[in-house]
Amino acid sequence: MSIRFDDKVAIVTGAGGGLGRQYALELARRGAKVVVNDLGGDRTGQGASDAALKVVEEIEAAGGQAMANGASVTEYDQMVEMVARAKEKWGGVHVLINNAGVLRDKTFAKMEPADFAFVVNVHLLGSANATKACWETFREQNYGRVLMTASSTGLFGNFGQANYGAAKLGLAGLTKTLYLEGAKNNIKVNTIAPVAGTRMTEDLFPEQAFQAFAPEKVVPAALFLVSEDAPTNQIVGAGAGVFQASYVTLTQGKLLTGDDLSPEGVASHWAEITDRTGEIVPDSGAGQSMLIGAKLQGQ
Ligand code: NAI
Repeated sequence: MSIRFDDKVAIVTGAGGGLGRQYALELARRGAKVVVNDLGGDRTGQGASDAALKVVEEIEAAGGQAMANGASVTEYDQMVEMVARAKEKWGGVHVLINNAGVLRDKTFAKMEPADFAFVVNVHLLGSANATKACWETFREQNYGRVLMTASSTGLFGNFGQANYGAAKLGLAGLTKTLYLEGAKNNIKVNTIAPVAGTRMTEDLFPEQAFQAFAPEKVVPAALFLVSEDAPTNQIVGAGAGVFQASYVTLTQGKLLTGDDLSPEGVASHWAEITDRTGEIVPDSGAGQSMLIGAKLQGQ
């Protein structure tokens, strides 16, 4: 069965280039009306341009429907306005891909607090702004699909990207609560951790790998994750055509009592505490408390 977005309105932030542009083009090809948001700055978030407009022209030239939006995701009021315009023109908003992003890499030792805040502001607060701007509409419609963009840096770490990694794991965290809050209104929320040859990674990939990691190869996961039959609360890795799922897990752990309920007890039982046999993936934070409760009952 083919995945289509007819009668759906999709917003893709940071869609003036790289991955966002590919998402926007493919959503439009599959019938969506697309708001192409992009401030059009450089990789570090400086400056502005008509990058969004160019992608809109591309979509229209291919027979699709799109609207350019040059607002920064960091401005909540402008996100509200963007949603209002889309609703005015097309009657709703059904899909949001939070993709806008910047890099200001430095080791933590050398990183200015302002560069830490800036990166967290664009990725984490920017995604929260755009999502919040859509949220009431999603609830009223009983339909919403949200995709957050994390990164292997957020999930697993990367040297020189403390600000970026903090923001990116924050987005996976945001997914984990929003999926719970959106469930009763058919709002599904997922996270993608892409790997792609874009201007963000051009100095990391050798030329051949850059081609192998074409952003087009991430698109199938992104579109599935915002489709009608999307799963929810998933973290999906996608790069070069390889698709993976990533989980935050909890070990069975160990109940410590008496003299063992001490730092020394934790140290001596460390192997059991960290033993991954019977590891679980809780559906919510309550899962951890339930596991603790079960341990106490089994005492
Ligand atoms: P990119 O630099 O081509 O795309 C990011 C886009 O966001 C740019 O067009 C930029 O103008 C826009 N943008 C930046 N600040 C904005 C703001 N305040 N408001 C609106 N738009 C803004 O890079 P790429 O690789 O396409 O990145 C897309 C997303 O994927 C980012 O969130 C990035 O962190 C994430 N990502 C990319 C990876 C890769 O391997 N390329 C790896 C992991 C995550």
